[in-house]
Amino acid sequence: MADIKDPGLAPEGRQRIEWAGGEMPVLAQIKERFEKEQPLKDVRIAACLHVTTETANLMEALAAGGAEVLLAASNPLSTQDDVAAALTEQSGIETFAIKGEDNDTYYKHLNAVLDLKPQVTMDDGADLVSVVHTQRADQLTHVLGGTEETTTGVIRLRAMAKDGALGYPIVSVNDADTKHLFDNRFGTGQSTLDAVMRATNRLLAGRTIVIAGYGMCGRGVASRARGMGAHVIVTEVDPTVALEAVMEGFRVLPMREAARIGDLFITVTGDTSVIRREHMERMRSGAILANTGHFNVEIDLPALRSLAEETRQIRPFLEEFELADGRRIYLIADGRLVNLSAAASMCW
Ligand code: NAI
Repeated sequence: MADIKDPGLAPEGRQRIEWAGGEMPVLAQIKERFEKEQPLKDVRIAACLHVTTETANLMEALAAGGAEVLLAASNPLSTQDDVAAALTEQSGIETFAIKGEDNDTYYKHLNAVLDLKPQVTMDDGADLVSVVHTQRADQLTHVLGGTEETTTGVIRLRAMAKDGALGYPIVSVNDADTKHLFDNRFGTGQSTLDAVMRATNRLLAGRTIVIAGYGMCGRGVASRARGMGAHVIVTEVDPTVALEAVMEGFRVLPMREAARIGDLFITVTGDTSVIRREHMERMRSGAILANTGHFNVEIDLPALRSLAEETRQIRPFLEEFELADGRRIYLIADGRLVNLSAAASMCW
């Protein structure tokens, strides 16, 4: 049985899925072919992806090809509840995802899609593969292969493969040029700023924006922020990539120095503890923190919570932390990937 917030949201979800589908002509052609050829007849697919309008179109194409598909969220905060409703109620694709679900529910949902005993897994961040390997290893024999969408997931899987611990082959979607060169750069670039603007209602022009990580996503966010009139500072641990950012005209600083002058900080590294206590201690009052990397570990949230005397939710997806010295620091969407948490799901 699916687990969604409200089946009544299905009609709204359907309209938005159709709108997104209009921008996905290649998938539409594949779907048409799948309907005739049924290449996935009786194939069981468990997907753990962001439950968005684009994912919905993908799920429907797989189902059109004959697959039996179950879908769970790949992040507790990225689900679009109306999309989950439309998939479950109208497309026969049972979805296990509720925006804001807690950690236990998140893992309950991953296990629910694995109850299908899938032959194929589809992942965004490698949480599903991780559960198969750590808690449900008996299922490894049924799985023929899988896909992984994102940079962080691919890094996790390559580490498993290197240790000989990966039990089945996985296609790295992120390696496709059409993914990392376009989705990461231009998609994440635009949607991250969109989310920051919705969550804060602040003007970006004239602000100092610090982008941590100048990889595929980071360069997209940095160039778009510059286009909005912001002063952009980049922090980057790879010296060659840092030099690239310099040559592109960005100011490059260590986080320790950038911390003093930034108005808005956006992490997108795939690393952990990129913004730490020592940085928060130097920030000016009013500084806003956001993360658009895969996991909510790039900003040291326990450190921020321990520094705060008072916290309050000041706007949807925006939390205020008042520190002992009276400074206020703001955190968007609990440090979860901001574009999927605070933008796309609010666009209707
Ligand atoms: P990438 O590997 O192209 O770039 C990451 C960059 O961060 C590298 O240049 C690396 O040297 C740098 N870096 C690592 N640790 C750092 C630190 N402590 N301080 C400063 N720089 C550091 O990776 P990509 O594709 O840009 O992805 C970054 C993150 O964003 C990953 O977690 C990925 O899964 C996620 N992602 C998020 C999306 C979204 O929609 N929000 C979409 C695609 C990827």
